Amino acid sequence: MSPAAGASSGGQAGPDAARRDTLVFPPDFMWGAATAAYQIEGAADDDGKGRSIWDTFAHTPGRIANGDTGDIAADHYHRYKDDVGLLSVLGLNAYRFSVSWPRIQADGTGAPNPAGLDYYDRLVDTLLERAITPLVTLYHWDLPQALEDREGWRNRDTAYRFAEYAEHVGEAIGDRIRYWVTINEPWCAAFLGYSSGVHAPGVQDPAGAFAAAHHLMLAHGLAAPGLRASNPGTSSVGVALNFSPVQPRSESAADLDAARRIHLLQNRLFADPILRGSYGAELREHIEQVSGTGHIRPGDEDILAGGADFLGVNYYTPYLVSAGPEKTYPTAWPGAEEVAFHLKGLPRTVIGWEVDPDAFRRLFDWLSAEYPDVDLVVTENGVATFDRVDPDGAVHDPERIDFLFSHLRAVHAAIADGANIRGYFTWSLMDNFEWAEGYAMRFGLVFIDYETQQRFPKDSAHWYGRIARDNAVSGTTVLPSGTEE
Ligand code: FCB
Repeated sequence: MSPAAGASSGGQAGPDAARRDTLVFPPDFMWGAATAAYQIEGAADDDGKGRSIWDTFAHTPGRIANGDTGDIAADHYHRYKDDVGLLSVLGLNAYRFSVSWPRIQADGTGAPNPAGLDYYDRLVDTLLERAITPLVTLYHWDLPQALEDREGWRNRDTAYRFAEYAEHVGEAIGDRIRYWVTINEPWCAAFLGYSSGVHAPGVQDPAGAFAAAHHLMLAHGLAAPGLRASNPGTSSVGVALNFSPVQPRSESAADLDAARRIHLLQNRLFADPILRGSYGAELREHIEQVSGTGHIRPGDEDILAGGADFLGVNYYTPYLVSAGPEKTYPTAWPGAEEVAFHLKGLPRTVIGWEVDPDAFRRLFDWLSAEYPDVDLVVTENGVATFDRVDPDGAVHDPERIDFLFSHLRAVHAAIADGANIRGYFTWSLMDNFEWAEGYAMRFGLVFIDYETQQRFPKDSAHWYGRIARDNAVSGTTVLPSGTEE
């Protein structure tokens, strides 16, 4: 059955007024929430875990807002059973988490640490006992520091080390895993990590960032066959890319060129080599100008041509750009320094990102047209809001409900038009360490009181759980927050 066939809308004609505008999703749709190891686990030194670049970065004064670190975070390492219980009570049928590489190999090489593997083994079993499908990310930015001491992702060898690490994890839990994401947002890892330097490891080497980008893709390509083999015929291997649809501010040649460059770097740099097996002439020319293409060796594109069985789509906000004054500091878009970013004038979230569900809708059209053969999974989409716990323990977050509602409508519309979207994972299950922003930004369905580690499901958690249980978004799910359930 085609996915579109399962997506229907009750429309105005339905006999049941309460089900008016009901948007039904395809059968077996994954309704999940996502997290990442460094952002929630804490337990920074437990059970033989080594240090990652984020441990180092967060402990470097001035790098993270408020001097926050992930040392304790949401203490999920010790509370994972309760947190899986929450997923289950809410009614979600899928969960995306990441494995911490330095828990498996403290310095990124050699024999795996049994205690690290055992932790994820238990987590997976706990999920499966509750009929929650795990979607496992292998790299959500916590590179073992020992590998960074050898140039990290700028060193080609790191891709081979990653493939070994992936094999260890595949051997340990692969018999129970259907969905793997090798690398989360390689754009951030390469360009925030090695060009602008606002993320770990905090390096400012714009040319080196293109080598890092390539090696991250190579890591995906080298690891994919082993992961597929860990559960033959069943496991799917994907990559999660962060997309931002780009719009030029005017039709002038200069603005169009600014938009072209940002689109190339933001939306095509990883998708084209991984999903088409080739950088293509335009990307090669761009990279040639900034760094040369010596890091792309003959045969590398063949490794990437193994592709992905599904594409993880992470979407938060679009870009509006124009030609602008050249910047003198390293940007996250090397070779596009003379581009200015603007606001469209849409509502903004507390992190400053504009809310644009229409751009999300159009993104699916673009993905379906450009990469028609790959299944899509929304691996991240969500919003930071100012949340607080009321005296009765409730957390009213109507902005999150509005955000999810509008973005789920976009997903449904795309499915109805034929996009092959298999699931939706909101970012995030719980409030967590939001990288350079520390704990100030709360993206969770569940509020975390970091003093007591108490969990408080927000209104949005109940709202979203109901959608997951119904496999449908209905008009009644947008009643004012607090009146549901
Ligand atoms: C994405 C990251 C994720 C989270 C969200 C808000 O870029 O993958 O870890 O921080 O942004």
